[in-house]
Amino acid sequence: MAVFDGKALAMLIKSQVAEEVKKLNKKLKLAVILVGQNPASELYVRNKEKACSDVGIDFELIRFAEICKQADVVKKIKELNRKPEVSAILVQLPLPKHLNEREIIDTISPDKDVDCLTQANFGKLALGLSDFAPCTAAGVLEILKASQIAIQGKRVAVVGRSALVGLPTAHLLTKNNATVALCHSKTQKLKKITKKADILVVAIGKPKFITKKYVKKHAVVIDVGINKVDGKICGDVDFEKVKKKAHLITPVPGGVGQITVSMLLKNILLLNLEKK
Ligand code: GUN
Repeated sequence: MAVFDGKALAMLIKSQVAEEVKKLNKKLKLAVILVGQNPASELYVRNKEKACSDVGIDFELIRFAEICKQADVVKKIKELNRKPEVSAILVQLPLPKHLNEREIIDTISPDKDVDCLTQANFGKLALGLSDFAPCTAAGVLEILKASQIAIQGKRVAVVGRSALVGLPTAHLLTKNNATVALCHSKTQKLKKITKKADILVVAIGKPKFITKKYVKKHAVVIDVGINKVDGKICGDVDFEKVKKKAHLITPVPGGVGQITVSMLLKNILLLNLEKK
């Protein structure tokens, strides 16, 4: 059993990005749109700002009130699309219910879409035409590669089918020749599927949902969940019990979350290098 050290890998990725940023002859800048004051989103955005500052990438936060108008957000994104000094645009999710999230995301110019959530960029990923992927999905792959976990031919279960995590992770691992079962809230006999998985990726937002009964012996367990229970942060996996059974497990906090932010920095760089 081993517990993955997210901090160490995040530091390594950040130092590599910082080196690359130094070599560029232009400044990079991330513009983030934050609607409302969701405490989790506020925290994530602060983490992104700090990460950018650590590696020498400029950062601009554009706030809208919870009750803002769709047209105003769309107009702002169009402005950012036109600004040459803005290299990457991110709309922090979730958005308030009254906004049309799909229209807002698709307003972002694909060459500034750092989250890889526009139809154009996500479509390329789904067709296997590009490795550019949403930060968390890219982070899951990075963790597996850094931990020297073989992917080709392995059985993977991804639990959760969100556009941010589950769906792109399934595409990325399929592209890396895994056999992927994409499971979700309507999946029947979930346990039967997860128990067969050599690699289990969990992103369903239910605290400690995955108990050891769901896990194959010596499996690799990647916990993407971030939940707050009684003021404490925990993942979607029952860490203490599952860690005894797993070959490798990512803790929460200190696992995937650390890597997601570093992959955002890497994605900013990739947009600039047009290596998507
Ligand atoms: N909300 C939670 N995670 C993310 C992310 O990676 N990108 C965006 N845009 N919003 C999020």
